[in-house]
Amino acid sequence: MTLVQVAAAAALLATVTPLARLVTDADFARVFPRHRRIIGVCLLAWAGVVGAIAVFWPATLVPSALVGVVMSIVLVWLARPHFGVRRGRPPGSLSLTRSLRDLARREALLDLGERHGPVFKTRQPSGPVVCIMGLERGQRLVREHRSAIGPSPLAFTDEIMGGFLRYMDDDTHDVYGPLFRRAMSRSVTDAAAPVTRAATIRSLQRVTATASSPDTGLHQIAYESVLHAMFGIEAASDTGIGFAGAYDVFARDAISHPRHRRQLVALDELRALIREHAKLLDDPTITVAPCALRELRALDAAMPDETCIDNLLFMLRIGSSNVTSLLRWILEHLGSDPSWRARLATESDARGLGTDLHDAFVLETLRLAQSEYVYRRLVDDVEFEGFRLPSGWLVRICVWESHRDPEIFDHPTSLTDRFLGPRPPQTEYCPFGFDRHACNSVGLALMIARTVLEEYCADPDVIVRPSGAVVRDLRHWSHWRPGPTLAVSRHTATESRREPVGQIAVEPPLQRRDVVTKDVHETGP
Ligand code: HEM
Repeated sequence: MTLVQVAAAAALLATVTPLARLVTDADFARVFPRHRRIIGVCLLAWAGVVGAIAVFWPATLVPSALVGVVMSIVLVWLARPHFGVRRGRPPGSLSLTRSLRDLARREALLDLGERHGPVFKTRQPSGPVVCIMGLERGQRLVREHRSAIGPSPLAFTDEIMGGFLRYMDDDTHDVYGPLFRRAMSRSVTDAAAPVTRAATIRSLQRVTATASSPDTGLHQIAYESVLHAMFGIEAASDTGIGFAGAYDVFARDAISHPRHRRQLVALDELRALIREHAKLLDDPTITVAPCALRELRALDAAMPDETCIDNLLFMLRIGSSNVTSLLRWILEHLGSDPSWRARLATESDARGLGTDLHDAFVLETLRLAQSEYVYRRLVDDVEFEGFRLPSGWLVRICVWESHRDPEIFDHPTSLTDRFLGPRPPQTEYCPFGFDRHACNSVGLALMIARTVLEEYCADPDVIVRPSGAVVRDLRHWSHWRPGPTLAVSRHTATESRREPVGQIAVEPPLQRRDVVTKDVHETGP
């Protein structure tokens, strides 16, 4: 090989430098060890390919290197933080590998905000993203440019006639948005509360001396609560058991994955089951427990239609998963600071139920851990705070980062009882979103979180061992969650001191008035 060919081989190897930086990044290696190994193997394979070219086709080395070098220069040019600034684009790098590296650091966007200012750009695989720091700023952008800002839907919305509420076009949302908001009434949450409590106590009774993940129990609590709130179905009833069979298949993969054929069949089964179940609303001999399905009918005799049924099913899927994540964080925080647990336990009211302090703990957990972002997509060019933001870009309103603003929250990284005081305005604190697409199930989510917190604090024999770590998936829309070592166990010398859960009154949701007793025995918790 000539010297020029050796230099060309070296240049070809150097084209993958951004990936090499990814695998040598300590944070990336810690948070994504499996992906790091895969990328490492790819890099070795690339080295093998360059070696093979050098041995078998040395004459092609120089032209290949020229192509590689030109491409690398273009990518480096595009990745400059000042790229496009003269055309009014915000500062910030559009390098994809850089943004993948940033996924491994929870504070990465906060640091970028410090460096570039509150409006900056970055990249995701689907294209450029403008990040907005500060909730007031983000809400102003949406308010002032309403017609230029659309939803950024996940693909599953196409499986729903009329779309999922969160991603509906405005005309469709004008019909269903307010309807669902009213349907998720206080009475729906109140009727679900005993279900949540019973499910929590049952899951605490299953905690043994051997430390184990609380995930299954937390998921079950969230599922049973939201199932009841959506349809008035009790998980242990015949309908509930039939529902669970199809639901397990339907909900198997992450919501961002396309549903495969078996899951679509399961979704059809669930639709049929709920259609059948909704007929009970017309049967005067049956009392359906307060639930969204019942409220929708009460609000509009033509409801629930197919769009409502699909939305309720997907709300169950997404809502129970959101709540499970919040519950995980509540346990992580509870285990991390025993003084908080002791204080919550002593401040319970005369009936052993929680106080404002419990609510304050939940709201603080939402602020610190379970509010990440609000995404939108620009459907037209927008001028905002001196920047020209082009149509097609994603908008990421950085909620988690904005909740750490020291100008708004004293000691922003500490878990305090700040929410015992007056609640901050939505422009400073909004874990449940804002504007027309704000969460319609805030009361339900808070009720579940508070109930679980109360029950954990009321059972001093349950030990919560925090993971002390945070993990996430290698996807830009993934949420940070506590590490997999978060565990619960029970002091060995103790049994659960709670009454057996079968004695807890859970309002039977769907009962023929004449067979109440039988149903209670057959479907009881
Ligand atoms: C910890 C719990 C939860 C959190 C932090 C949360 C957060 C949010 C946020 C931030 C939004 C606004 C999204 C946007 O503007 O793009 C939202 C919307 C929504 N959430 Fe929640 N949520 C939670 C629980 C639930 C539950 C339990 C349900 C239902 C059972 C639910 C149903 C919805 C729906 C349907 C929307 C869209 C509303 C509309 O567009 O009209 N969420 N949620």
